[in-house]
Amino acid sequence: MTGEVHCIAHPLIQHKLSLMRRKETSTSNFRALLQEIAMLLGYEVTRDLPLENRTIETPLTTMEAPFLAGKKVVLISVLRAGSGLLDGMTKILPSARVGHVGMYRDHETLQPVEYYFRAPSDMADRQVIVVDPMLATGNSAAAAVTRVKQAGAGHVKFACLLAAPEGLEAFHAAHPDVSVFTAAIDERLNEKGYILPGLGDAGDRLFGTK
Ligand code: URA
Repeated sequence: MTGEVHCIAHPLIQHKLSLMRRKETSTSNFRALLQEIAMLLGYEVTRDLPLENRTIETPLTTMEAPFLAGKKVVLISVLRAGSGLLDGMTKILPSARVGHVGMYRDHETLQPVEYYFRAPSDMADRQVIVVDPMLATGNSAAAAVTRVKQAGAGHVKFACLLAAPEGLEAFHAAHPDVSVFTAAIDERLNEKGYILPGLGDAGDRLFGTK
């Protein structure tokens, strides 16, 4: 089974992503744009959430109206840049449960190192969406998903802003059952594991730490 990749080519997403890529884009604009794209990506990632009808009264009559069914969605943010996507996603999913995985990339080995994990205890019957803006080598993303599966998650999706082809391949080698939603698939990684053309270090640009 090879994993599905959904590249969301919506014009609004593409325009906002191009603004984010520009090196002169300020921290505040970068943050606002990421939040806006996260809302649009979230719309696609949640497209197949189940609905159930409930009886309601409108001012004029009674109707069977569709509501989200089942348990609340869980959003898992991969620290630290995941917070940027999380902010937008919680705007459209205000009741979502939220967990965090702390991963940093060892700059020598490019391997992920976990330093924090906290997630809802009952994830088995929930849709879990792991968010991290940059799917570069795929190592951190794969490790984060492995961790949430270990914690009980059974229905997992992964949402990012940019993906590298190498990262998608590595990610799906580890998790063929997890669909990836991304705003773009870039050309390749450079020798330091950055996505080209990319947008630089998403965490630094989001938090103004460079
Ligand atoms: N993480 C980033 O923030 N940017 C990249 O290009 C790759 C990984």
